[in-house]
Amino acid sequence: MEAGDDLSFLAAPGQVADWRMVLAHEAAMEAGVLGALPATPAELAAQLGLEEPALRALLDALMVWSLVEVDEHGRYASRAGASSSEKDAVLRQHAVVIRRWATFLGDRLADRTASSEPPASRVPPEVFFNFLAANARRLIPGVLDACTRRFGRVERVLDLGGGHGEYSLELARRGLRPMMQDLPDVVELVDRGQRLTEGGVELFPGDFHATLPPGPFDLVLCAGVTHTFDGRRNLDLYRRLRAIIAPGGGLAIVTFLRARNPVASIFALQMLVATEGGDAHGEEDYRRWLGEAGYGPLELADVEGRPQTVVLAGI
Ligand SMILES: C[S@@+](CC[C@H](N)C(=O)[O-])C[C@H]1O[C@@H](n2cnc3c(N)ncnc32)[C@H](O)[C@@H]1O
Repeated sequence: MEAGDDLSFLAAPGQVADWRMVLAHEAAMEAGVLGALPATPAELAAQLGLEEPALRALLDALMVWSLVEVDEHGRYASRAGASSSEKDAVLRQHAVVIRRWATFLGDRLADRTASSEPPASRVPPEVFFNFLAANARRLIPGVLDACTRRFGRVERVLDLGGGHGEYSLELARRGLRPMMQDLPDVVELVDRGQRLTEGGVELFPGDFHATLPPGPFDLVLCAGVTHTFDGRRNLDLYRRLRAIIAPGGGLAIVTFLRARNPVASIFALQMLVATEGGDAHGEEDYRRWLGEAGYGPLELADVEGRPQTVVLAGI
């Protein structure tokens, strides 16, 4: 694996990582194999209580993708640079997506409310947020440039559904005053060790469908949020957000716009499988909702090299 590879399910069509590598990597992570290297299959079998021939097969397969290497004594080791916590999280979340599509996509064509919970997820929630954080780090410069071009220098920013907090941390580093809202259990999880508060991020734990922090904010950043909801919820949210945006300020929505690029069209299936009402909503949908909610004309800014678009609207 080369640095900078897009190993996630958001890779361009034809460039997506080999599903066999994604699932073999997941099996090795979950069984504790990668963490126990360097070792021979016999040592691993004794240490982890697993079958030696199966471990040999797994390790030999992982060699094909240069994830591990073997020496002349039959000891396998991780290849330098093949793994990092970021790559591991991106690949593990990719495996969750593969399993979800394989299990639920057909059911969801008939019934949008059919369960799509991954089978008793063995994947810790940190994996999801670490994947999102890796994805966000590739977007942040382009997204913040688009915001600055549209709204100029802003001061107080609400990072709505900020999750991992990467946007807020970068805003704080740039001398702005970010507040991040997310669900209370998410805020607790991501702020362990006070990494966000110490990084200059004010936290507002709470369900944004029920409560929003008092404004005014110069900018509300809605990254990766509104494609997970249907139009009714989005319109309601945009209306309530408008009331806490300062005059001259605005809203920036980072999302996948239907048919804007091939990955956005593929992403619609992920929303079909993983959410109750989410979609790669279209430009016309955002135009209508934001118009009805009282915002000014939209501007669109595609993020260079990524499938996401920033939808910008002032008040
Ligand atoms: C896909 S993540 C996006 C994270 C980050 N903004 C990004 O772009 O990478 C969506 C976030 O919205 C949060 N979220 C979803 N529903 C929410 C709600 N009703 N109230 C507050 N946060 C919510 C989730 O917990 C999650 O952190």
